[in-house]
Amino acid sequence: MSIRLIQLPKIADQRGNLSFIEAQHHIPFPVERAYWLYDVPGGAFRGSHAFRETEEFIVALSGSFDVLLDDGHQKYTYTLNRSYMGLYVPRMVWRTISNFSTNSLCLILASQPYRENEYIRDYNQYLESIR
Ligand code: TYD
Repeated sequence: MSIRLIQLPKIADQRGNLSFIEAQHHIPFPVERAYWLYDVPGGAFRGSHAFRETEEFIVALSGSFDVLLDDGHQKYTYTLNRSYMGLYVPRMVWRTISNFSTNSLCLILASQPYRENEYIRDYNQYLESIR
């Protein structure tokens, strides 16, 4: 599957809204790991790397931020600001997350456990790897 926004179920209720994610139903991979970014200071950015095999699904559970993607051919910017909307990021896509609003909460579901050797942190090396 290519880069895409995926709208999640939203159960609207007077008591508050509820959304959910089922692995391999709403997102195309089994979830091996969840992590989240929070208390990000203004102006900071996270990421700037690609993963060799790991696929990710990124949701703004609170607030907003921009996800900048680069597949080596084209660059894309997605602003995430709805807790029922997520961004699917395939393997081998260079990604940076920036422009975090105050108190934003970025949830990332990943298809692999954390392994440093999954990361490509050098952009030129990334470009060489996808050639
Ligand atoms: P990193 O992925 O480089 O952060 P970001 O992409 O958001 O800028 O991770 C920062 C540090 O956290 C790094 O030392 C590895 C550690 N880490 C884990 O131990 N487990 C994880 O699941 C993640 C995502 C990071």
